[in-house]
Amino acid sequence: MADATKTRTRETEAAPGSKYEYCYSQRGEFVEKGKNGTIVIKESDREWEISRQGHLKFYLVDTQYPETALSDWWVFVHDIKRQSGMHRHQGGLVLFVLEGKGATECNGEMIEWEEGDCILLPFHPDGLAHRHFNRGTEPAKWLAFIHLPTWNHVASEMSQIEEMREFKERSGA
Ligand SMILES: [Fe+2]
Repeated sequence: MADATKTRTRETEAAPGSKYEYCYSQRGEFVEKGKNGTIVIKESDREWEISRQGHLKFYLVDTQYPETALSDWWVFVHDIKRQSGMHRHQGGLVLFVLEGKGATECNGEMIEWEEGDCILLPFHPDGLAHRHFNRGTEPAKWLAFIHLPTWNHVASEMSQIEEMREFKERSGA
């Protein structure tokens, strides 16, 4: 009887190091981050980078910016100077055109766009192989929103098919 009482007491206490307690505290941290994390990301807090795909400025990159209130997204601006690299990943994402005019070649189809447009890239059984073009003489920029849990659930790949020319020239490739 005494042993049974002792066992019950132990079970009702939080067991440090248990997987349940990890999950419990992880949820607490998630809620805390939502309450107190950064909710305005200043443009001046982020840098442009030249990548294989293009000239990009990332505002949200899952765990790369731990101070932000949300971490399930990639949110970035792409400044299409002339022509981006080409890569393939799954759809389910949204691009909003901030300025300029351009086009996106997606699985062989050309989609034209201009400032103020919202471009939807739907899911596709084969994924989306795509690249972007600036159609004018002014900057052409869009803002992308990619929800990572959705991408994970559809097992989205990220495969570079062609590198942006400026990147290849800079890297001497
Ligand atoms: Fe893409």
